[in-house]
This record gives sequence, structure tokens and C-alpha cells, in this order.
Amino acid sequence: MTVKTFVFDAYGTLFDVHAAVRKHAGAIGPDGQRVSDIWRAKQLEYSWIRALMGSYSDFWKLTEYALDYALAAVPGADPACRDQLLEAYWTLDCYTEVPVVLERLRANGARTAILSNGSPDMLQAAVDSGGLSHLLDAVLSVDAVKTFKTSPPVYQMVLDTFDAQSRDVSFQSSNRWDIAGAHKFGFETVWVNRTGQPDEYQNYPPDRVIGDLEAL
Ligand code: LAC
Repeated sequence: MTVKTFVFDAYGTLFDVHAAVRKHAGAIGPDGQRVSDIWRAKQLEYSWIRALMGSYSDFWKLTEYALDYALAAVPGADPACRDQLLEAYWTLDCYTEVPVVLERLRANGARTAILSNGSPDMLQAAVDSGGLSHLLDAVLSVDAVKTFKTSPPVYQMVLDTFDAQSRDVSFQSSNRWDIAGAHKFGFETVWVNRTGQPDEYQNYPPDRVIGDLEAL
């Protein structure tokens, strides 16, 4: 009997990327959500451009560069918050349903893992702070292959780690572009559309769409 492997994206899927700005909302100023949105958008843009250029950089550096851009781009955002916001990124809240869902999957005999652009130390800190380490069989960082999603070698890490076939992997992400990459690679995919975004990447559809991980 084949074992199913449930692989999760980290940021936006297990961990709330907007938690850092929420934590320091009072200090940033009225446009905190805009800072958070630009921070995230630039962090991802930098990862894609780096992957295309073949010029890998640790995701933490990209996270710093992206915040610097966001604070410069939003008039009125207090740049003095920079260090507090970066500090908070190491202990982002995990979504409330995450521990129970991981426990349930494992109780049913499945394997569980993270596959993320995050650097190994960022991921370890987030996993520890969410109390998830005993619920995961592997925490896989792109750092091992020195590129970013959606490069196929990233998804290949799952098959190599678990000696699995792609049809036995269910890949969960809140990032629609990540679902496109995982679908193209051959995984079964579940788009966790937490914020009711419209569908895109129509040639690379998810197998399922859910509102949060509880429905998995
Ligand atoms: C990750 C980002 C892309 O965890 O959300 O890989």
C-alpha cells in the first residue's frame, strides 16, 4: 500500500505573513496593510527574478530587501519599525487549524512535510514557534537546490526525500502560482484560497479548492 505524502507551502498557507505587521500596527502608521501587501509582493517578485536570473540568494535577504522597498514606497510608514517587523517574521502566527489538521493526517497514516522558499533557519524558527516540529516528517527548504519555486528542482526535492511518486503527493498552497508550478510538476494539488481570490493560471488548475486547511 502506498503512503500518501501531504506537502505544505509555508508562508501564507501554514503561517500568516501579515501577522508581523498586525503585531506592530500601532507603530507603523495607518497604512500598515499596504506595507504588508507590498512587502509580500516584492519578496515573491525578488524570488522569481532571482530564479530566472539563476542568481540564488537566501530568502531572508530577499525578505529584508522587500521590507526596505515597502517602507520606502508607502508615505507615512515609519521606517523605525524595520527591525521589529523583521524580528516578528521569525515567529509568525500559524493559522489556528494547522496543528489539528497535521495531527489528523498523521493519525491516518499519512506523511507530512513543508516545502518552502524560506531559508532553513527561518523555517525552523516558524515551526518551533508554532509548536509543529513533532507533526512534520520533513521541513524542505529550497536552499538545498539554490533556486526558488516554481523551478521543477524544488518540487523534485519531495520525491527524492520520500522516495515517492508524484501521484502519491498532495501539495497544499494558498499561493495560486505555487499550485500552478506543483500541478505542472505532476502533484495532486489543493489550493487553500483563504481570501477568496479569483482563479488564474487556467492551464494549471488545482484538483481541489478549499477555504482553509480544516476542509482537507
Ligand atoms: C513559501 C512561500 C512562497 O513558503 O510562500 O515557499
